[in-house]
Amino acid sequence: MGQAIQVLDVVKVYPLGNGEVVAIDHLDLDIAQGEFVAIVGRSGSGKTTLLNLLAGIDRPTSGKLRVGDTDLASLSESGLAAWRGDSVGLVFQFFQLLPTLTVAENVMLPMDFAGKIPVGRRRSRAEHLLDRVGIAEQADKLPATLSGGQQQRAAIARALANDPPFLLADEPTGNLDTTTADAVLKLFAELNAEGRTIVVVTHERDIRSIVSREVTLVDGRIITDQTTGATR
Ligand SMILES: Nc1ncnc2c1ncn2[C@@H]1O[C@H](COP(=O)(O)OP(=O)(O)OP(=O)(O)O)[C@@H](O)[C@H]1O
Ligand SMILES: [Mg+2]
Repeated sequence: MGQAIQVLDVVKVYPLGNGEVVAIDHLDLDIAQGEFVAIVGRSGSGKTTLLNLLAGIDRPTSGKLRVGDTDLASLSESGLAAWRGDSVGLVFQFFQLLPTLTVAENVMLPMDFAGKIPVGRRRSRAEHLLDRVGIAEQADKLPATLSGGQQQRAAIARALANDPPFLLADEPTGNLDTTTADAVLKLFAELNAEGRTIVVVTHERDIRSIVSREVTLVDGRIITDQTTGATR
């Protein structure tokens, strides 16, 4: 399998008061197509920063990031946004669904943005994706009327809107009870089995039984990088 993600000597420094914080410290990481990688580490170790760099939400201070065929440094801000809309599905801890849109409308929004799916097919694709994540019957409700687990499923359906090869998730189960968290992680495992490359930041203790690889960060550096027992 080819290299899907390549992080080469990446540094991310944030200014802080008179000084600075080195959030990512000369980090190298290669992820192959189809891998399911957990990023773990204590609070402040740089997990979110790394994920934001992979998604092109943030730019590195130095170093190189390649995701798929794209050298992220070669893209302008609008180019990055368009690339992200096409290639990356993002899932967050607090779902970030738009409260005034129905669940189906939330799922259709990235399709409207990317313009890849023909207008006439967007609604049925949204319904298909909501069915895929197990909440077909919630399509026309507002997000606030759904449970946390249902909202996260809706957010995952939205992340799949444009059929991206990459899924990046930042503590997607951080706001869910254990049973619901297990179900959401199982859903990620299924999406991975379909061939998507997935990177998930998590605090789940039993993540090793689900992912194929676990990378541990300390102070913006990788201290362990282990292949786990999970089979697909
Ligand atoms: N926008 C910012 N400005 C200044 N410092 C920042 C900024 N974002 C993150 N940092 C600092 O960079 C370091 C890494 O932060 P990051 O959010 O990546 O950690 P994390 O591993 O995701 O932590 P958590 O588990 O709490 O979410 C921390 O020291 C943090 O204080
Ligand atoms: Mg974080």
